[in-house]
Amino acid sequence: MRIGIYGATGYTGVELIRWLRRHPQAEIVFATSRTYAGQRLSDAFAVADDLPLVDASAADPASCDVAFLCLPHGETTIRTAQEVLATGARVVDLSNDFRLRDVEHYATWFKHPHGAPELLAEAVYGLPELYREQIAKARLVANPGCYPTSVLLALLPLAEAGLLDGQVIVDAKSGVSGAGRSLSLKTHYVEANENFAPYNVGHSHRHIAEMEQELGRAAGAPLHVIFAPHLLPVSRGILSSCYVRLPRDLAPDAVRKIYTERYAQEPFVRLLAAGQLPTLAHSVHSNLCVLGLQQVDDRGNWVIMASEDNLVKGASGQAIQNMNIMFGLPETTGLQ
Ligand SMILES: NC(=O)c1ccc[n+]([C@@H]2O[C@H](COP(=O)([O-])OP(=O)(O)OC[C@H]3O[C@@H](n4cnc5c(N)ncnc54)[C@H](OP(=O)(O)O)[C@@H]3O)[C@@H](O)[C@H]2O)c1
Repeated sequence: MRIGIYGATGYTGVELIRWLRRHPQAEIVFATSRTYAGQRLSDAFAVADDLPLVDASAADPASCDVAFLCLPHGETTIRTAQEVLATGARVVDLSNDFRLRDVEHYATWFKHPHGAPELLAEAVYGLPELYREQIAKARLVANPGCYPTSVLLALLPLAEAGLLDGQVIVDAKSGVSGAGRSLSLKTHYVEANENFAPYNVGHSHRHIAEMEQELGRAAGAPLHVIFAPHLLPVSRGILSSCYVRLPRDLAPDAVRKIYTERYAQEPFVRLLAAGQLPTLAHSVHSNLCVLGLQQVDDRGNWVIMASEDNLVKGASGQAIQNMNIMFGLPETTGLQ
């Protein structure tokens, strides 16, 4: 497959390139950057890879079968998706531009109308564990957000079984690469190192929109997510702790069985044994989402924990998983 990458010099872009270099069917035909156009990837990052970088205006989307958009969300991403799709190539977008299905839902969360509502309606939410068949046929795949990937994989089995009672509480922590490579005070070394900071607490983080959209669809009823994200002083990794109340009479073995059956065929979801809980080390540098189930008391309270690498299963690894599905390759190709 011939691959184009827009935004190759960001954290998700360079992670994508690392994995694609080991993918037996992938050939990178162009990689774009505004800042480093005319230079090599090794000029932008401490990596031994001389991939040439070009300005997006010099990239020919018709030369690729699929383009990955690793750009900030907004006008540039939407325009680039339109240009690529017009050539007949397919798109996997890593931003949050195409993840919401409903234009009004989008306008509520993003505070402005969507720039290409027809594409919003067409895009497939790229969580393979949920939409494998639709992804296979899609022209445009909206790769899920990093936090939502962990939270959805933690809670979908319960939502699908009708066991969530309308509200979940999610306490999540992310490594600093989750904020992207642009400089900001919050991610400045002295601010982040040896610190642990909450941010966007309340019903304000845009990832909530995705979580509520997909959990609500799975449950067949609206679901309210109370979300508290935190910045962890590590480079990568997400750990999400999801607090739920299940029916009191549901036995622990029955809860575990729901998960083992739901994920029996999933190559990138691992359920830890009873008594074990996931840590960042279980998942970083892999495309795995690792789950742990913890009963809290006999009143139906449980904590479901999920660990993933925000740059792999939470972004570029999942994007490659989607590409494999779109092109009929074994889903694990290049990802193990
Ligand atoms: N970081 C994560 O963990 C993560 C996880 C899931 C999804 N995402 C999403 O994936 C996308 C990329 O994230 P990232 O963390 O890789 O971001 P990043 O590190 O900030 O990189 C963004 C890339 O886009 C280019 N760029 C920046 N502004 C641009 C503009 N206005 N027009 C064209 N190119 C521009 C940047 O480099 P040049 O200046 O060289 O062009 C760079 O290549 C974002 O939409 C993000 O929300 C990120």
